[in-house]
Parts: sequence; C-alpha cells; structure tokens
Amino acid sequence: MTFQPEIWPPQWPEIRQAAMELFESGDWGRYKSLCQEKLRLQIAALTGSEFVRLCGSGSSAIEICLRAAGVGPGDEVVVAAFDYPGNFRAIEAVGAVPVLVDVEPSGLSIDTAKLLAHRDELDAAKIKAVIVSHLFGRAAPVESLRRWCDEQSRDERKCTLIEDACQVPGMTIGAKAAGSVGDLGAISFGGSKPLTAGNGGAVVTSDRRLWARIGALLDRPSDSQPLSTLQAATLLPQLARLSDCNRLRNATVQFLQTEVIAGLSSWTWLSQSDSHVSATHYKVAWQCGSLEQRDRIVAAARDFRLPIGAAFRSMGKSSERRCRKPMSLERSNDLGATAFVLDHSALLIDQERHAELGDALKKLFECTS
Ligand SMILES: Cc1ncc(COP(=O)(O)O)c(C=O)c1O
Repeated sequence: MTFQPEIWPPQWPEIRQAAMELFESGDWGRYKSLCQEKLRLQIAALTGSEFVRLCGSGSSAIEICLRAAGVGPGDEVVVAAFDYPGNFRAIEAVGAVPVLVDVEPSGLSIDTAKLLAHRDELDAAKIKAVIVSHLFGRAAPVESLRRWCDEQSRDERKCTLIEDACQVPGMTIGAKAAGSVGDLGAISFGGSKPLTAGNGGAVVTSDRRLWARIGALLDRPSDSQPLSTLQAATLLPQLARLSDCNRLRNATVQFLQTEVIAGLSSWTWLSQSDSHVSATHYKVAWQCGSLEQRDRIVAAARDFRLPIGAAFRSMGKSSERRCRKPMSLERSNDLGATAFVLDHSALLIDQERHAELGDALKKLFECTS
C-alpha cells in the first residue's frame, strides 16, 4: 500500500464558504474589504507585531523589507549561502551586494559564531542589513543575530535585521513569535505554505519609522503590491485552524523523532527543535551522503507517494561578481547538495496513520541505501 498525503491546498468547506460570501457581497471585485483588515489584525496578533502590510508574496515581502531598510546600491546585505534563493535575488534587485555566510554546524541558518570569527573580513561600514530565515522547522539564532546587528549599528547608520518567517507562521521562540525579533519580518501565503492563498505575503514590524517608509513605498495611492480581498478571505478560515494543524504536524514530527529516524541510520535528521521552540513544520529535512543518493531518494519517493524533494541549492557557487564570500561555505554547499525535505502535507495526518508514514519512509530508506 502506498502512502497518501493530505490534500493541499486544503479543500475545507469554510474556505469555499468564505469565497462564496465575497461573490455574493461583490467584495471580490473591490480594492478593499473587511477581510484584509481582519487578516492584518490576526497576523499582527500571531507575530506579536504592531504593524502588518499585506503584499503579493513572501518574495516581495523580503524586497519591501530591504527597500524600507533603505538598502540600495553600494550597500551589502548578509545572507546565508544555504537559504531560499529568492533572498539573494531580492538583494540584487535593490542594487545591493549579497555577503554570503555559512550555516551553523548542526543547524540550518546563519552561524553567528562564524560572523564574529570573520569580523576582519566583513566591512561593517557597508553592511546595511542581515536576512535570516527559519528553515524546515528549525528556529534561526535570531537573538544572537539581533545582538550582532545592534553592535554593527553606528550613529545614524543602522544594520537592520530582516527575519524571514515565510515558512513558519505560528512558530514561537521562547516568549517571542517568529517574525517579531527582527526589525522587519516577512511572511508568505504561497501555494505550498501552511497558510496559503496560492500567492501572497506580509511584512510585519513594530518600528513606527519603518512602517511609515513602507507606506511611502507602496501607497500610490492604490496599493502597488496588494493582497486581494479574495485571497484574504480564504486565509481567515486557515488562520482559525492554524494551531490545530500545527499540533497535528508536530505530533507527526514527534512520532518520527521517537519511532522512525533512528532506523534511517545514514540519513541525518535536520529538523530537531530546541526545547524553547514551538515549531511550525512546513517541511522537515534530512541530509544524506551524496548528491547521487539524494537524486535516488527524490526519484524513488514518488513510488511511495511520499512528497519529498531536494532542499534549496546553495548559493555558494555564485560568481564572485555577484556576491562577496568572506568565509568558507562548506556546510552550506554540503546541505545544498545533500539535503532533502518531506512536505507538510505528509505531516498533516492523524495519529492512526503515523505507522503508514513511518513504514513508507523505512522502505524508501532501504531501497535507496
Ligand atoms: C524561507 C523562504 N523565504 C521566502 C519564500 C518566498 O515566498 P513566496 O513563495 O511567497 O514568494 C519562501 C518560499 O518557499 C521561503 O521558503
């Protein structure tokens, strides 16, 4: 028997109902409706942020963050070489230069210790921002990066921390919500994400000055990067069920951690959460021994109907004309070649189906080892 992931995007009746109500009221064809306002308030509460700007995608949210931070030609932005590749492209899009740094030895985000160790190779006067992402259920070390950014900030020149929370709506790190530790946070409502409107995103901040800059950038006076009323309406019922869905996904991850991963001996589990983190699992990740083995795993996963794909490629191979590389990017390059991810549609299952998922993973492991 093959494994059946949950259907995603969800086909819940309340989503259909929300869309129907907009058709009936005519709000689907208006610039604005109460749905956007409700969504803004709920995202503000979820991320512990004062201000929320809805926009067209997580990618555009990152670009808006960079522009609001005043990043432009002549500036540099620190970003992990192993990250969503669109973040590198967003830095280029605003005319700045990505400064690629390596990932923590056993984590998935920027290694603050390496940033400190390479102080002399980093040009603090040029670095205007840091983009850091929470990836595959692992919380990025945002507190230590917060301190690092504050130390780089001099007089009028601020080093802005941009927290990419696109994968993790609802994640908390200690008492803080993901997205609220950075000066600016980015959220995605893309088609694969735990909250989906097909496309969509949001920028969150509690900084009044940055908030004003976002308004100045986007209000013309129409919203130049809008999230439609229809998209907002379909997201509200999903927000109402986000904690339940996160609980289901987390229970499946707990099962994998206690019952399955030890048996997948040569795969390294990458999605272990720290105890102070309440994770949102968009995808969970493993690392295998080689690029060839990963290709075999991704190909064979289709036979078991396991939604498994390659993780991000590393940007460490990008030309020196496009970026600066002040340190070795060994771990990023290694992850880019050998990490693979299981989609959250496979995690969103009831407890009765855990064994089914575990068996499919074990069979996949056996036939690709
Ligand atoms: C970490 C991260 N940042 C940004 C994005 C971009 O979001 P979107 O697809 O909404 O543009 C993604 C999408 O997968 C992501 O994983």
